[in-house]
Amino acid sequence: RRYRKTIIAGNWKMNNTLSQMKAFAEQIKPIIPKGKWCNVVLCVPAVNITSAVRLFKDCHIAIGAETCHYEDHGAFTGEITAEMIKEAGAKYVIIGHSERRQYYNETDFTVNKKVHAAINAGLIPIVCVGESLEQRELGVTMELISYQVKCALANVPADKMRHVVIAYEPLWAIGTGKTATAEQAGEVCQAIRAVIRKLYGAHVARSVTIQYGGSMNAKNAAELLAQPDVDGGLIGGASLKPADFVEIINSAN
Ligand code: G3P
Repeated sequence: RRYRKTIIAGNWKMNNTLSQMKAFAEQIKPIIPKGKWCNVVLCVPAVNITSAVRLFKDCHIAIGAETCHYEDHGAFTGEITAEMIKEAGAKYVIIGHSERRQYYNETDFTVNKKVHAAINAGLIPIVCVGESLEQRELGVTMELISYQVKCALANVPADKMRHVVIAYEPLWAIGTGKTATAEQAGEVCQAIRAVIRKLYGAHVARSVTIQYGGSMNAKNAAELLAQPDVDGGLIGGASLKPADFVEIINSAN
């Protein structure tokens, strides 16, 4: 663990207006631990990134975006570039969340392009991978995850890997209240590290933060984070409640 950072990241998805975010900030500031050794991130809707950076600066919460485009400019109405996100003050960007893959046709190919766009802009991509329930039942989880990781990282040089985070999010655990067991999460995160080891060697593999995501909450976080290859969490629902989010941060401390 001392080779890599523990990162607890909230993914707000399409939740929290500006005023709700202000209320969240007011509530979390007095209770967030001061001497935390894990990194804390909130990924918020793009329109609120600038305000979030201002609001959470004094409690050392870094801000992330929830997606970006893979081109660095052009005729893509409604889209934003990684550079714009960086300029707004964010440090992270989630890439290839299963909701983006499902509703916005993101593929392993575009995920790879977005990973490159994020790295080129100086953002840390949080790259999401995960299997569906059908795929788990068919027994192809490891092959699929390995394939997704390899695609996402294609042509990413080793020296950039220190700034890449992988999040294992089994689809059947997202927003369902059905968490992967600590063993299941640990097993897949370990397999992801093995894929990175094959691609980049042991030194890089042990420096990469691998998170678990999917119904992680104040109750189950400690057990999941106790797995040696689970270096943090990507948290949806529970990151919307200041007290729960802080409890998860405390479980990582
Ligand atoms: O990216 C986080 C996420 O998909 C998990 O959501 O609500 O199950 O914690 P949730």
